[in-house]
This record gives sequence, structure tokens and C-alpha cells, in this order.
Amino acid sequence: MISIDERPIGIFDSGVGGLTVVKEVINVLPKENIIYFGDTARVPYGSKSRELVYKFSCQIIKFLKEKNVKAIIIACNTVSSNCYEDLKKEFSDIPIIEVLKPGVTSALKVTKNKKIGVIGTEATIRSGQYERKLKEVLEGVEVYSKPCPLFVPLAEEGVIDSKITIDVAKIYLQDLIRYKIDSLILGCTHYPLLKNSIKKVMGDNVNIVDPAFETAIKMKKYLKDNNMYNIKGGNHKFYVSDKNDKFDFICSLVLKENHTAEEVSIEKY
Ligand code: DGL
Repeated sequence: MISIDERPIGIFDSGVGGLTVVKEVINVLPKENIIYFGDTARVPYGSKSRELVYKFSCQIIKFLKEKNVKAIIIACNTVSSNCYEDLKKEFSDIPIIEVLKPGVTSALKVTKNKKIGVIGTEATIRSGQYERKLKEVLEGVEVYSKPCPLFVPLAEEGVIDSKITIDVAKIYLQDLIRYKIDSLILGCTHYPLLKNSIKKVMGDNVNIVDPAFETAIKMKKYLKDNNMYNIKGGNHKFYVSDKNDKFDFICSLVLKENHTAEEVSIEKY
């Protein structure tokens, strides 16, 4: 039997977005074994009901638990903002970390004028969670939120730094520019894939905040505090619910590692 520290960390998202979190986890925790699940058959989550997203998340967590993971990162803002508390209750036997709080922590480190923009899926923005959490910890903060649903299919298609992406970004982000925000939280893990285009549209004076780094730091702290820290692993394995070459391509683009994702029938969980 392998010891707890050698067991993998499970990370999941609706598709390729969570790979931007995996990248930071590999940087911060290079010797951890990782199992990733991307729900490519059912992406996007952001336009679906809370009930459906919860059901999908439960199936994925059951799958990851079967793979003997020692902890889980929900690398998806839609799941984090709508289902985190319920998932924590349902799966109280395994540590689960989400991405919203780390996003708030990262934004607080860089904002000076206390005007913060949040972009995410429709479900994330509708939940109002970023706004609530920012207001809880920073008095006088002004939060401007905007759903950007077309960013997810652009990222899934690998259309990440093109004229179309910039045109779409201009339409979505014009209000946030007008509000003179100094920091923009990428409240969807797909969006860091489009970071160059978003940066071009927002200009150099706006801090682009990606919650992934703080998320990885939080996981590192948890593992160290609980003697679950691995010093001899580093294997990464990828699963999807619908196999396509695009996932493997984006995986190599983001992680600079070549992998062939394996398909899983996630509905049976
Ligand atoms: N990447 C996910 C998020 O952070 C989900 C995007 C989607 O599937 O709509 O919200």
C-alpha cells in the first residue's frame, strides 16, 4: 500500500480551463502526483443549472476518490461559487480546496484604488460570491462584474490569441475600462488561456489577477501542515469524458508536457 503523501492530488474542471491551475500546482508542488479530470463531454458548466453542475461535480469527485486521491482542487470557479459548501458536506472525508478565496487574496495584494473587476461565467457572476467575499474583507471596495460566456468556447477551441478573441474581449470589457478598475480577477480558469488578448484590451495599468498561484500555495500549506507533502513523485495523468485531440494539444501548450488523455464514462459514477 502506498503512503498518504504519495497518493495523487485530484484536480478537475469542465474542460481545459483547470489546466491553468495544474500549471501552477506543478510549479509550486513539482513532486506531487496529479490526476486531472476535464469534463469535455459536458463543457460548458457556466450556462447550466446549479443542480446539474452539482451532480456532475459529485460524479467527478467519486471518480477521483476511486483513483485514491489524497486531496482535491476544484479548478473551476463555476463549481466553487455554486457548489463548494455542499460538496464539502457531501465529501467530508477528503480535503477539498476551491479557487474563489485564493482569487480574492490575490486581488487584495495588488489593488490600490479598490476598484476591482471580476469576469467569469454566467453562473459564477450570478452567484455574487466574488463580490460578497471581496466586500467582506475590504471596506469601501467597488466591484464590477461581467459574465463573458464566449471566452470558454474560444479557449476550448484553442483560439487564444487572435483577432476574434480581441474583438470579443473588447465588447465584454469596455464597461470595466470605463469604471477605471485597477485589477481584474480572471474568475474562470479558462480565461488565463486568453490572458494576452485580455491584457491587450485592458491596457498595462490594470493588474490581471489569476487565482491559480494562490490556490497552489494554499494546497501546499495544507499538505505540509498535515504531513501529506510528497517529495518523490511528479507523475501527471489526465482523464476526459470525451476524447479529442484538442485537449491533448492545449495540455501540451499550457504545461509544456505531452500527454494522451484517457476517456472515462463519468455518468456511471
Ligand atoms: N473553467 C470553469 C470556471 O472556472 C468553467 C467554465 C465553463 O465550463 O463554463 O468557471
